Amino acid sequence: MRWARYVRLIRSVTQLAYELEEERRKGRGIALVPTMGSLHAGHSSLLAQARQSGRAVVLTIFVNPTQFDDRSDFDRYPRTQDRDLELAEAEGAELVLVPSTEQMYPPPDVVRVTASGPLTELWEGASRPGHFDGVLTVVGRLFGMAGSCRAFFGEKDYQQLRLVSALAAEMFPLVEVVGCPVVREADGVACSSRNALLSSEDRRAAAVIHRALLEGCDRASRHGASAASVEAAVRSRIEKEPRAEIDYVGVVRIDDLVPAGELVGEMRILVACRFGPVRLIDNVALSGAAPEAGAGAGAGEGHAVVGRRTAILSSQDDD
Ligand code: PAJ
Repeated sequence: MRWARYVRLIRSVTQLAYELEEERRKGRGIALVPTMGSLHAGHSSLLAQARQSGRAVVLTIFVNPTQFDDRSDFDRYPRTQDRDLELAEAEGAELVLVPSTEQMYPPPDVVRVTASGPLTELWEGASRPGHFDGVLTVVGRLFGMAGSCRAFFGEKDYQQLRLVSALAAEMFPLVEVVGCPVVREADGVACSSRNALLSSEDRRAAAVIHRALLEGCDRASRHGASAASVEAAVRSRIEKEPRAEIDYVGVVRIDDLVPAGELVGEMRILVACRFGPVRLIDNVALSGAAPEAGAGAGAGEGHAVVGRRTAILSSQDDD
């Protein structure tokens, strides 16, 4: 049975910080779920895992202007606050922060996080300049507000998850980041707030991304497969869909997101694709030969295992 309790809407960052301090004084841990709203089943799964941790569940909803490299994308981004609050309550959130821009970026607004290194510069970082600076700036402010907490993020935004984990490790030692698996619609399309912006034809066509990722996994499991042949299989499947325009396809090592030369160790296949004005991203896990075996003869031969979940960080044990 779903919990039906009253969710509390809070608009002030300072007030929420005080409330969380109070919760901690009472001995309760905090489970933080940052979002930009327009909630869907992917967000619900994060809330469900947060609730399972036994901590006080805090949802934040803020369409963060600093992470949009394209103003029209920000303007178009779906906003469905009433529905979001109903869903938040149904999923057991106790506190929901919906701050104004002035609350999140109070004047004089002097502090910005600048992300650097390959983890930032590749893939989404290359396609959306400044995007991760905006993400890490807002997530840093949320981590600062929340204090000691467990924070839940989706593997759907895999590069973001890796960077947010790095942010916590480098600057917020009391924040434990938990990665949660990708939730998909019945046709395999990863749930995303942006799906609502697709025309019905593009929405149907978008299923090609997951089909292509699965084809890539299938290619990887065949004898003689290489990272290049996996990437080519994904590309050629997407290219058969005339409505899709590929931004990137990458077979990457999970530690640094650098293209995998050989099918060795834990990897991820990353895809970004446009359907008209809407840009979608997705990814799946791929496991290659054990790294030791890859160093010897036969390195690069395909012996990949598909679909194994990659544990990003930290335990999810209950308190
Ligand atoms: P948003 O796109 O709303 O996503 C909020 C969280 O939900 C992220 O951690 C994202 O990875 C996760 N999520 C989205 N779709 C998912 C799916 N299909 N399956 C599993 N998890 C999914 O990501 C952001 O907002 C923002 O960048 C944010 C981190 C809130 C900073 O502004």
